[in-house]
Amino acid sequence: MKKTCVPVAIATALGVVLFLPMWVRAQTVSDTPYTAKCAGCHGSDGTGSSMGKTMGAHDFTSAEVQQMSDSQLSDIITSGKGKMPAYGKSLKADDIKALVAYIRTLKK
Ligand code: HEC
Repeated sequence: MKKTCVPVAIATALGVVLFLPMWVRAQTVSDTPYTAKCAGCHGSDGTGSSMGKTMGAHDFTSAEVQQMSDSQLSDIITSGKGKMPAYGKSLKADDIKALVAYIRTLKK
């Protein structure tokens, strides 16, 4: 390796070390629309924030919600219900599918 290449190599390595975690974090955040769009009312654990409960949101970990079918859950997310906003325009079908799958993981 030529001497002039060494700083370039170090800079590149540093760049990878510094920017890769940022990139990975950005990916994870955009992968979880739940935290950004739903947790405000449904709580990060799905049991519902105090605001969400006041509006009538149900506990995602409860049998009541878990016994709903995937299509019922995705319909509510897509079209809204009561004070629950509709997300059919702001989320892709795949995102809604992922949210339903996420709600399933909250089952007690
Ligand atoms: C502004 C507050 C609010 C936000 C934000 C919100 N919800 Fe809701 N959600 C509600 C309320 C209130 C209900 C209860 C509706 C009813 O039964 O009248 C509800 C109901 C639901 C239900 C049906 C089960 C239940 O609790 O009755 C699902 C599934 C759901 N929301 C998913 C989501 C997802 C996924 C997001 C994010 C994309 C989200 N919600 C964002 C308020 C909210």
